[in-house]
Amino acid sequence: NKIVLAYSGGLDTSVILRWLVDTYECPVVAFAADLGQGEELEPLVEKAKATGAESIEIKDLREEFVRDFVFPMLRANAVYEGSYLLGTSIARPCIAKSQMELAARTNADAVSHGATGKGNDQVRFELTYLSMNPEIIVIAPWRIWDMRSRTDLLAYAQKRGIPVTSSAEKPYSMDRNMLHLSFEGGILEDPWAEPPETMFVLTVDPRKAPDTPEEITVSFKAGDPVAVDGKVLSPAELLSSLNTVAGRNGVGRVDMVENRYVGMKSRGVYETPGGTVLHAARRALESITLDREVMFLKDEWIPRYASLVYNGYWFAPERRMLQAAIDEAAGAVTGDVRLKLYKGNVTVTGRRSDKSLYDPRFATFEEDRVYTQSDAEGFIRLNALRLRIRSMMEKSST
Ligand code: ARG
Ligand code: SIN
Repeated sequence: NKIVLAYSGGLDTSVILRWLVDTYECPVVAFAADLGQGEELEPLVEKAKATGAESIEIKDLREEFVRDFVFPMLRANAVYEGSYLLGTSIARPCIAKSQMELAARTNADAVSHGATGKGNDQVRFELTYLSMNPEIIVIAPWRIWDMRSRTDLLAYAQKRGIPVTSSAEKPYSMDRNMLHLSFEGGILEDPWAEPPETMFVLTVDPRKAPDTPEEITVSFKAGDPVAVDGKVLSPAELLSSLNTVAGRNGVGRVDMVENRYVGMKSRGVYETPGGTVLHAARRALESITLDREVMFLKDEWIPRYASLVYNGYWFAPERRMLQAAIDEAAGAVTGDVRLKLYKGNVTVTGRRSDKSLYDPRFATFEEDRVYTQSDAEGFIRLNALRLRIRSMMEKSST
């Protein structure tokens, strides 16, 4: 009886909006989320109505996105396949959650999105929808209709009088939010083809970055970043200020081929300037504030946790369980990290914390009073016991 569509105002979701009205002959409510994609969303009010929406809700999710999605993920040091900081992956459950809340408020029985049937995004949207309402009807037009290309969409838009702002077509697809900008498809589908320099938006070419390193200090409190250079900022302000400094120093570019959840390999290029700094800073602070075994456990969980986020299981019990354990350790991650940003690199140059477990009296090679070197002899002999037994056996059997 009513559909809530995740709507961006772009060609795809504009055509979807009208197609839903035409196909299901029911009211369609558009939902547009501001995740810091750097676009004016106000014009969407008129546009959605002109396209056929019954109404539209625009929601500013920037603070919620960074505070409740990006920061918890950062606490887990999540990185997918060693490189991807999950900027698109983490945005989907955030959008889908608010979309479902709108569906509940407007008594809609169906939701829809513009992700294709070949990607990860469909899974992320729909796992979130279904985890919030097991009865919700999901409509994924790309899996249903027979339109296949941009040309098909433009023809449909023309025929149905759908307003499309004809932004010059880029030879790749982009997805942007506060955490990152992703590029894939089109000319990037050849994994040997270097991305054109003109493609990048959030970061300068490292060769064109300033010739002197820029130094910044990021402060953390109970596991989350709270200030840059002593200035206390909200989560979204903090990430956007780091995006600016890191971006002008060319920090945060990644070019990789990744494994999609649905099975195929896919080439992705990412710009994650602020996230790259935060990731490095957090690890540096963990190195002095976390117990060794806690760190090792967290490290083992990184690929697992990252796959959960990548595959769309944000609102799943196993992700919450890992999060609870990670957050239990996060309280100690309090202090400052100093970093240098220079031509694409982030280098940690200092870390300090009131909760530091680092004690120079133990680490020093100078004369020591607190550590007894002769203790190490028994430690090594007992640890070597099974190695010695094996060696004895091998020698006697020859
Ligand atoms: N490959 C990345 C991911 O799966 C980025 C996806 C980009 N999505 C998009 N709608 N352009 O997270
Ligand atoms: C899409 O298929 O809609 C974008 C790519 C992805 O989700 O992986």
